[in-house]
Amino acid sequence: MNFWNGKRIVIGLGGGIAAYKCLELIRRLREAGAAITPVATPDALRFVTPLTLQALSGTPARTELFAPSEPDGMDHIRLAREADLLIVAPATANLLARMAQGQADDLLTALLLARRGPVLVAPAMNPAMWEHPATRRNVLTLREDGILFAGPETGPMACGEDGQGRMSEPATILEAARRALTPKILAGRRILITAGPTREELDPVRYLTNHSSGKMGWEIARAALRAGAQVDLVQGPVSLAPPLGVRLHPVTSACDMLEAVLSVWLRNRCGQTGPDAAILSAAVADYRPETRQTDKIKKGAEPGNLTLSLAPNPDILAMLSAWSGVRLRDGRQRVVVGFAAETGQALERGREKRLRKGCDLMAINDVSAPGSGFGTDTNAVTLIGRDGLEDPWPLLSKELVAERLIAAVADWLDHPRVPDPRMDRCNPT
Ligand code: C5P
Repeated sequence: MNFWNGKRIVIGLGGGIAAYKCLELIRRLREAGAAITPVATPDALRFVTPLTLQALSGTPARTELFAPSEPDGMDHIRLAREADLLIVAPATANLLARMAQGQADDLLTALLLARRGPVLVAPAMNPAMWEHPATRRNVLTLREDGILFAGPETGPMACGEDGQGRMSEPATILEAARRALTPKILAGRRILITAGPTREELDPVRYLTNHSSGKMGWEIARAALRAGAQVDLVQGPVSLAPPLGVRLHPVTSACDMLEAVLSVWLRNRCGQTGPDAAILSAAVADYRPETRQTDKIKKGAEPGNLTLSLAPNPDILAMLSAWSGVRLRDGRQRVVVGFAAETGQALERGREKRLRKGCDLMAINDVSAPGSGFGTDTNAVTLIGRDGLEDPWPLLSKELVAERLIAAVADWLDHPRVPDPRMDRCNPT
């Protein structure tokens, strides 16, 4: 089911020019299936009209604390109680100050004071106002009160200045709202994810690679962040910008990827805590040129056909799985998840691959099936596990596949499965 379907969202608008971007946020949320109630301060109505807000949200805009249409004068209490999420965008310096002080002198601030559930604010103001000690104090107070923030961002402002204070784009606020509403099943957990292809260089201008877009790993990283995890993303060359909030480790070749993965996974050796789980969705090249030529290989340098000599790359998944039986210093068991992209006889091959690589869970994907595989937005996955699990999922968007996978990993971490014979090995740390 669509995440936003039936979600009740109150959108509070303050009086700033960024109010125009909020209209796009309302449009997107409504399109996604949310029920929107716009609430505008008197100053917000200098920038947008009640009619615009009503036309875009499908609900009359609320603008007055004591509206004649609300005979009991309880609109602010009702809205504060019923909303799944309250988003304030734009949150001006004045609005943040009034919120921090607990003022309730208009409908929006009154309902913010009556609110017990999550509130997300998207500040927008001139950089000098954002940097002012008074605003810094107010932001600190609001954070301590549990208010969530999206932005502000750095860039050119309507006032002509360049600096921090721009309201975040609607897509960023939407993602922050989604995070605010997602149950934190991975709170306190660290997750390592690999994504994308690797690139194996032949010479300074040529390389061997594959069709991986990195989309699956990107969705897994986003789902893990939404679930409250800290995420290390080791990513081969892709065109996707990483999700906001990940610790990114960009790599090129399989050997670079192995180095980055091990340095994150083994971090507990240096007194730090390593990740609880690794989800390896990268399409790692199985072979690399045995030698990388320092000069461009010349056409016709060899008579007849050009022969490339390839050397096998290290199997990162198999290596991590061999280490995963080693508990972290605090006794936690770790989980390693692999992916198997197969063409035909996917389940049998996937079972064999999980055993050979030794991972706990494996997401098997028949990339020859319609709608599944590289560059598509959907995937048909069967999740199998060391504990005997064999769960065929229907064709789902990669976003939903990622969400299910994160739920499975969280469940495994919370309820470690069968005793693992590898646990008997001595801990090499
Ligand atoms: O053997 P195959 O490439 O089908 O295995 C796929 C799984 O193994 C994926 O999880 C992939 O990230 C991982 N893998 C790896 N290192 C390799 C090859 C694959 O970690 N050299």
